[in-house]
Amino acid sequence: MSHGAFERTHAAAEDRYEHVPYRRAGRSGLDLPAFAFGLWQKFGTDHPYETQRAIVLRAFDLGITHFDNADRYGPPHRAAQQVFGRILATDLAPYRDELVLSTKAGNPIGPSPYLKGGSRKSLLNSLEHSLRDLGTDYVDVFYHHRPDPDTPLEETTGALADAVRQGKALYAGVSNYSPEQAHEAAGLLRAQGVPLLVHQPRYSLFDRGPELNGLLDTAKADGFGLVVYSPLAQGLLTDKYLQDIPAGARAANSAFLKPDVIDATYRERAAALNGIAKERGQSLAQLALQWVLRRPEVTSALIGASSVWQLDHNVRALDFPPLTDEELERIDEHGVHGTGLRL
Ligand SMILES: NC(=O)c1ccc[n+]([C@@H]2O[C@H](COP(=O)([O-])OP(=O)(O)OC[C@H]3O[C@@H](n4cnc5c(N)ncnc54)[C@H](OP(=O)(O)O)[C@@H]3O)[C@@H](O)[C@H]2O)c1
Repeated sequence: MSHGAFERTHAAAEDRYEHVPYRRAGRSGLDLPAFAFGLWQKFGTDHPYETQRAIVLRAFDLGITHFDNADRYGPPHRAAQQVFGRILATDLAPYRDELVLSTKAGNPIGPSPYLKGGSRKSLLNSLEHSLRDLGTDYVDVFYHHRPDPDTPLEETTGALADAVRQGKALYAGVSNYSPEQAHEAAGLLRAQGVPLLVHQPRYSLFDRGPELNGLLDTAKADGFGLVVYSPLAQGLLTDKYLQDIPAGARAANSAFLKPDVIDATYRERAAALNGIAKERGQSLAQLALQWVLRRPEVTSALIGASSVWQLDHNVRALDFPPLTDEELERIDEHGVHGTGLRL
């Protein structure tokens, strides 16, 4: 898509590398910012472009150079990539070399068998569209969005490796894979000379799957990094739902966070965690982000935000002292796997 009509250019903050630490992704050579920013929600055509633009540019000015997208994100599908493409074509055009752009394919985006799954056809078609939507010749990370039991993993990983060999992606990733699937994918990719850079699982105080199923250990053993999504459990690990469901919040308007998960058990646990955060002089959101980043297997916390204020607030999470063993024990009591989530 042409962006010739847009003429704005952003002068990025000079101190942009002074806010967020960078962490090595597994045993690769790539450092990634401790926070990555995702455009899953509120980056479709149903939200104002100026707000979206302000959030993305603020993220970049804070040193969040890693932006996570997918062919699916919108609404409609592909819209979030087009929004980012518009910002890239104008404000961020001079900074393409500093950006790590991720996209994913394989989650259904239409009724055609080639708009879902893990086939070579689906993945490489989708990547072509994503490059066009983003207005870039290559993405930095190309992910298979979720496992496809009906496609041989050899075909899926072959397509990821070919995307890298063709220069259309610099690195390969997988998302939502079990530890066993990730281990197998890592082996197949390694054999093709394209090591698995990152895996993207859900991980938070309310979804402790990667600890329980052994994914943290697999990541360490196989040498891939974890870019963990929904570290705030979509907002449940903030103080916003302690009393009510505010108008405009995700639980009020998204199919992905239903208001009925905000029940008495959730509120009791969130309030207890909020109390621990307050004792530390920070917010629940900041505590929850520090908590996922305490693990060395976690390269980045992949966050969303619907305002510049949220982003600024959350990025300050790492300004606080590390969580002590005693605090971690108390947090364990209330950070119960499955809280507020339909697993
Ligand atoms: N690979 C996958 O299958 C997959 C799946 C899901 C997500 N992801 C990726 O992960 C990214 C992040 O996911 P997520 O958005 O669920 O992450 P999250 O960080 O857990 O939730 C972010 C949301 O919480 C609310 N929020 C954030 N900070 C807040 C604060 N300080 N106070 C109050 N509310 C606050 C905002 O929602 P509201 O203001 O709208 O309430 C914000 O959009 C996505 O954009 C996507 O890139 C990947």
